[in-house]
Amino acid sequence: MVKFGVIGCGAIHSVHCDALQKIAGATLSGVFDLVPEKGAATGSKYGVPSTETLDELFSMVDAVTICVPSGLHAEVGIQAADAGKNVLVEKPIDVSIEAASRLINACEQNGVKLGSISQHRFSKSVRRLRHAAQSGEFGTLLEGDAYVKWYRTQKYYDSGDWRGTWQLDGGGCLINQGVHYIDLIQWIMGGVKSVQAQVRTAAHDIEVEDIANALIEYKNGATGVIQGSTSFYPGLAERLEVHGKHGSVILEGDKPKLWKIDAEAAAEGLYGGGVLMQPTPSLHLHDQTDEVANAVNDPTALWGEQHRLQIEDFALSIVEDRDPEITGRMALEPLKVILAIYESSRNGGARIVIQ
Ligand SMILES: NC(=O)c1ccc[n+]([C@@H]2O[C@H](COP(=O)([O-])OP(=O)(O)OC[C@H]3O[C@@H](n4cnc5c(N)ncnc54)[C@H](O)[C@@H]3O)[C@@H](O)[C@H]2O)c1
Repeated sequence: MVKFGVIGCGAIHSVHCDALQKIAGATLSGVFDLVPEKGAATGSKYGVPSTETLDELFSMVDAVTICVPSGLHAEVGIQAADAGKNVLVEKPIDVSIEAASRLINACEQNGVKLGSISQHRFSKSVRRLRHAAQSGEFGTLLEGDAYVKWYRTQKYYDSGDWRGTWQLDGGGCLINQGVHYIDLIQWIMGGVKSVQAQVRTAAHDIEVEDIANALIEYKNGATGVIQGSTSFYPGLAERLEVHGKHGSVILEGDKPKLWKIDAEAAAEGLYGGGVLMQPTPSLHLHDQTDEVANAVNDPTALWGEQHRLQIEDFALSIVEDRDPEITGRMALEPLKVILAIYESSRNGGARIVIQ
């Protein structure tokens, strides 16, 4: 039984606490928040101690999940690593490469596991799409697009001092909201080589961007688009669109809207069988594998379930002494893309090559 502590009892922490109650090999053993009343409320809700100090929490657990503001992830994570605790940190890993690298080094030096949440990687349809992209099903990969056109009110940004700040949020709609799908598209396509971007603050009274548009070049030569926003009422389901020489896949809200890969049909006649005007799951998924068709009803798309799967994998990585599925080093990749987008925008849309 791996004993977990949850640090930071704000908006996301209950997803972690609820998940820990459903994982056979893990248990929630304690919680801590800088604001004692918040820790106490969570402690009494879940029937576990809320400690007065981090050290007290560390003395009763094997691992912690970190749910504090993004720009404090490394600072808190390093304290946990130095105390010999395994660290699962919320996304993004931190807001700078320097801080994230310090956290990675501290975990490596202390011989503890480090994972970073990117729960949509546990969606069945996302995993199936990555397999299709990386196993050559698409033929040559041509394009990978991620659209995260969400909506947040000014009240959302005013609900926490850290929200919408460079120092603690690290940016706006890309690093806080878009990071999920930026991680997915870079993972599916096999890594980003360069970006050219424009970001702006258009609809909120905040320091950071609430609209972002970026042109992407992937390491394999494919191109793509990343669009992020927290300005577009009412907020749309996020989309991933992947195109290769042999077909196209669209996921919306982690579910397939279109899954059409067919090397022979793609080479037919002059137009490859015509244009799909209204792709619908019923029309265009029936001729694909059951595995893909079943993903339309993907149970992992339910809120909270993907966190449960990732926290379960992290607990198992401790028991089995292996890397978790999403390591700290993997979490550097979406952060690099986002920071390169900001750099490009600051430099008039210049092409920034990612190191
Ligand atoms: N994976 C997801 O889908 C998802 C969703 C929401 C938030 N998040 C991430 O979770 C993190 C927290 O976001 P939130 O919306 O829950 O924020 P929040 O402001 O609602 O909660 C943060 C909590 O941390 C506490 N805190 C601050 N500094 C602390 C410290 N040094 N030690 C202990 N507690 C401290 C605050 O008192 C507060 O209760 C962010 O990094 C965010 O990006 C992830």
